[in-house]
Amino acid sequence: MAFVTSEQMMALADQNGYAIGAFNVENMEMVMAVIRAAEELRAPVILQTTPSTVKYAGLPLYYANVKAAAEKASVPVALHLDHGSSFELAMQALRTGYTSIMIDGSKEAFEDNIAVTKRVADACRPCGIPVEAELGKVGGKEDDLVCDDPGYTDPDDAVKFVAETGITSLAVAIGTAHGVYKGVPKLDVERLSQIRKAVSIPLVLHGASGVPDEAVKDCIRRGISKVNFATELRIAYSNGVKDFLKANPDAFDPKKYGAAAMDYVCALVKEKIKVCGSDGKA
Ligand code: 13P
Repeated sequence: MAFVTSEQMMALADQNGYAIGAFNVENMEMVMAVIRAAEELRAPVILQTTPSTVKYAGLPLYYANVKAAAEKASVPVALHLDHGSSFELAMQALRTGYTSIMIDGSKEAFEDNIAVTKRVADACRPCGIPVEAELGKVGGKEDDLVCDDPGYTDPDDAVKFVAETGITSLAVAIGTAHGVYKGVPKLDVERLSQIRKAVSIPLVLHGASGVPDEAVKDCIRRGISKVNFATELRIAYSNGVKDFLKANPDAFDPKKYGAAAMDYVCALVKEKIKVCGSDGKA
């Protein structure tokens, strides 16, 4: 099946009331596990890498892994740059062959966020590559990116932001945070509904690890068409390795504990795909 952009996937999700699961991957095993889960549930899927992941192994290695796996897969697969931290990194991902790009200027002042986002959207548009950007600030820690000063997305600002930048999807800040939550997150779902009424492009929910399934489903009903999961995949992968080595302390073959880690990630991703309602949509 083709290695595709996320635009068509997200448009269909938006029109039909489900969301595409977007899963952060760190290595080949996580790529294989996410795609296996998507195939088993017949779900379109987005794999994504953050700047710190890109720093770990480089854009071309992730691209080659995902492209090879996507071409063999029986479901549509997209590869997305998550939280692109600069115009330069966004352009490197574009040239490498990533099929969608996020530019995250949410830490900048509103006008500066518009400026960098528009620059990336203008460069990607002629190549047919969709661009996601963030308005308001999702709190918490995503790899090296820490935000201790979260801020909610203002619906009127969202209208201006979308019109002036030309982005194809918008990441909203409604009370989710990256990383592990202390307690149950309180989401401002009314704000989400207002943003949905105000802008017509697909909306993205970040920081979904640890958000109760019912809350994620409510956000999807209110207009979210892409849901990002990272921390829970990292935990599942690590638990797979740890449990295998605890049970088999003499093991030394990475393929053995790698397979255990893939099983854990695959099981988790299948649960999340069902929460998103994207199973059976490929
Ligand atoms: P979590 O780590 O909370 O799942 O957030 C993922 C995310 O939003 C990646 O952009």
